[in-house]
Amino acid sequence: MRKKIVAGNWKMNNGLAESQALITEVRGIIRDELRLDNVDVILFPTHYALPSCVRLLEGSGVFSGAQNCHQEKSGAYTGEVSASMIKSVGATHVIIGHSERRQYFGEDNEICNAKVRSAIEEGLMVLYCIGETLEERESNSHFDILKSQLINGLKEINAQQLNNIVIAYEPVWAIGTGKTATSEQAQEIHAFLREQLSAKYGDSIAQSVRILYGGSVKPDNAKDLFLQKDIDGGLIGGASLKARDFAEIVRAAQ
Ligand code: 13P
Repeated sequence: MRKKIVAGNWKMNNGLAESQALITEVRGIIRDELRLDNVDVILFPTHYALPSCVRLLEGSGVFSGAQNCHQEKSGAYTGEVSASMIKSVGATHVIIGHSERRQYFGEDNEICNAKVRSAIEEGLMVLYCIGETLEERESNSHFDILKSQLINGLKEINAQQLNNIVIAYEPVWAIGTGKTATSEQAQEIHAFLREQLSAKYGDSIAQSVRILYGGSVKPDNAKDLFLQKDIDGGLIGGASLKARDFAEIVRAAQ
């Protein structure tokens, strides 16, 4: 039985005061209304709000993570943040390979793989994102693209390290567009990804990997998505910026 995950990716939103207020609100609703025994909740604020996030969530059972990291440990990489720095503030998770990083910052599978390996070496849990564009889906090349993102991003990752990796399937055409993949479309891809993991790592390991769906998940479609056999929760963008909506999505995963 895989424990579900609901993760909030705030992207480049919220100043420090707003971040602290939202974290406090989410923490309050979770404490008063929700149970975390069958769902892991993770918040991904911006880098500079991360130390506050760790502090405000202490003792709540909610995890904190960063939206990206650099692949090197330290050095002359102006503006960048390494996995060890993320670890040093007490955060436990990092998102790697988000489509916005691939699209706007030129991150390819090779860079993503270097980042995944670096984060795993530091002992962080990785949410590794993959997803096809609309053109790739319409030209029916999405299975090849997803396979390549998955397998190349996980190059040199062994079965034991895979325990610390969660896959997030986020079709680019569904991100921030209000256009969610149907539960059947998402399930089809999740089953395909699990098959690929099974071919590489064996079936029992593949069955233990959590695969999240992301792309316009909202309180009213979350339950149906999370009921699918191979969908183990969600990576939430827009709806994670509203405490009540995010909490309702956590409830849908319980
Ligand atoms: P939306 O939920 O806003 O579509 O964003 C999804 C996403 O990119 C999460 O990482």
